[in-house]
Amino acid sequence: MTEARPPIRRIFSGIQPSGGLTLGNYLGALKRFAEFQGTGPETIYCIVDLHAITVWQEPAVLTRQTREAAAAFMASGVDPARSILFNQSQVPAHAEMAWLFNTVARVGWMYRMTQFKDKAGRNSENVSLGLLAYPSLMAADILVYHADAVPVGEDQKQHLELTRDIAAKFNHDYSVDFFPEVQPLIEGVATRVMSLRDGSRKMSKSDPSDASRINLTDDADAIAQKIRKARTDAEPLPGSMEGLKDRPEAKNLVNIYAALSDETPAALLARFEGQGFGAFKPALAEVAVEVLGPITKRMQDYMADPAEIDRILGQGAERADAIARPILHQTMDIMGLIRSR
Ligand code: AMP
Ligand code: TRP
Repeated sequence: MTEARPPIRRIFSGIQPSGGLTLGNYLGALKRFAEFQGTGPETIYCIVDLHAITVWQEPAVLTRQTREAAAAFMASGVDPARSILFNQSQVPAHAEMAWLFNTVARVGWMYRMTQFKDKAGRNSENVSLGLLAYPSLMAADILVYHADAVPVGEDQKQHLELTRDIAAKFNHDYSVDFFPEVQPLIEGVATRVMSLRDGSRKMSKSDPSDASRINLTDDADAIAQKIRKARTDAEPLPGSMEGLKDRPEAKNLVNIYAALSDETPAALLARFEGQGFGAFKPALAEVAVEVLGPITKRMQDYMADPAEIDRILGQGAERADAIARPILHQTMDIMGLIRSR
């Protein structure tokens, strides 16, 4: 018998402001963040600027990208009246909780993270200490709200397992049942949107090739051109996903189309069976422009008023702080740290 999960009460997720956001961020994260609003759980969304600075960020660029990320959240339907939207560094409880977790988590757990290995490369002695401790801060982001569910793309699965390990070790070490078991929400056909140039790599804002991704700031011409040039094969489309098993580039475009048009890949393939990419790509470009065009436009509108973005982030931070601070204080009490003011 499988045990029924308790209902989700609080959702938390974050995105780094470390570059322009991509179609992968939109389909794997932002679009879903908006969809969780009004479904019951409280939704808390964070622009994780303290994570971004674990690798060098030019200060003025970081400021702009943080505002741009806020604009992207709102343009994608995250409503600051229905969700809490803020930037991480304005709520000090994140960094404070991360320090407490740095004493719980083990160094070996950090070295095993594939994101760390990818970012550090062969240079692992020379990266910032923050890059190594990155997952401990991520666990703090989530657990300082006692959030029980986290919508993310596939690439964050390992970090969420580590979050569960930190929660479990804390509960065990201090003989408490304090931190919840966090549930990853990795669902849908777009949990791993791949590069347009290489079907074996994920679409990423840090890929040196701009043609590999669709940016949320790309205009209609750029989107159409990138899709036209996307790598594919010469075969016609099959009638089912089974037929795309060994065709990663083709499969990626089908998944992107299905996610953008909110239909199943099966329904999509039923319409395109037997057709080649000469027909499929223009149709995909049309859907992409139709969905992303209005988002890009709304982003530009928000970006025209940076003071208003800052005001919204400040207000979100205040609401976030009111939830996080008591949980941080309880954690300190459990650990025997004196708080007399
Ligand atoms: P990041 O840009 O690394 O801060 O990622 C923010 C969110 O977007 C996380 O939930 C990621 O898992 C998700 N994400 C990033 N790239 C992709 C992608 N190519 N496909 C699906 N989700 C993605
Ligand atoms: N590590 C995540 C990424 O690179 C960003 C992140 C930081 C996050 N803290 C989080 C995601 C908390 C979900 C929950 O995409």
